[in-house]
Amino acid sequence: MRLEILAQLLIFTSHNENFETVQATINAVNLTNNPGGKPHKEPQPERQTYEQAYVRSLFDGIAYRYDFLNHFLSYGFDILWRKKAIRLLREFKPRTILDIATGTADLAIEAVRLQPEHIYGVDISSAMLAVGRRKIAQRRLGSVIALQEGQAEQLPFPDHSMDAVMVAFGVRNFSNLEQGLAEMHRVLKSQGVAMILEFSQPRRTPLKQLYGLYFRRILPVLGGVVSKRRAAYEYLPNTVAQFPDGEDFLKILKATGFQQVKHYPLTFGIATIYLATK
Ligand SMILES: C[S@@+](CC[C@H](N)C(=O)[O-])C[C@H]1O[C@@H](n2cnc3c(N)ncnc32)[C@H](O)[C@@H]1O
Repeated sequence: MRLEILAQLLIFTSHNENFETVQATINAVNLTNNPGGKPHKEPQPERQTYEQAYVRSLFDGIAYRYDFLNHFLSYGFDILWRKKAIRLLREFKPRTILDIATGTADLAIEAVRLQPEHIYGVDISSAMLAVGRRKIAQRRLGSVIALQEGQAEQLPFPDHSMDAVMVAFGVRNFSNLEQGLAEMHRVLKSQGVAMILEFSQPRRTPLKQLYGLYFRRILPVLGGVVSKRRAAYEYLPNTVAQFPDGEDFLKILKATGFQQVKHYPLTFGIATIYLATK
């Protein structure tokens, strides 16, 4: 059924609009997000950031459909990616974990497998947190996971208080990426680990083109129909297209002070896990 819808939309969109590749957007790494200072070969457009109030209202608006749409639009891959991300944290045996931009708490809930003492989740959207709190209560995880409102750029936690900090599909939403990463670094204990799971862009043909078609044309339509908030599903490809992924993001992590930075591309490079230590 879902494949049928996708096929119909594919035909519809390719008949009605000139399909543009995402190549232009791959070049959209912001110069200001290149603290290493090496100029890119060509002038790059500014990375567009969104007002935090706008981002909050987008997520407040889709919170009640967020989990369903996440799994539906990613064909369930988001679940596998979060599992893999948590598996990578196992060797660090974190006791206190902070999940930034926790949303409906899927990553925080998955992190319970690491048997930590505490997991804290922060997010700017009260509606997303309300869904997360319901899920935590249903699973009787209230003694391990605590959620609260908070901004990535100003974390409500002391310096050196966390063994692990993590963000899934959140960093590209930060209104100030560098400040958010600096805050992650600040709250980590020495030798602590940061894990970031984020969408990235496949570079190879034909996946690059298929991905561009799905992300730019199909996903906004499907997401818009189900959530009745098309803006939220146009915002998604825009932020992904402009996000400095792969090696570019590793450079930013290093410039923030992180060490041993690594990345693990997932599913043809559609998403990437980044690991770094303090
Ligand atoms: C795509 S959702 C990801 C939610 C969750 N981590 C997951 O894996 O499904 C992005 C979340 O980031 C939150 N967010 C956006 N900007 C933020 C910021 N500056 N500080 C904290 N949370 C933020 C949004 O409210 C939203 O819940």
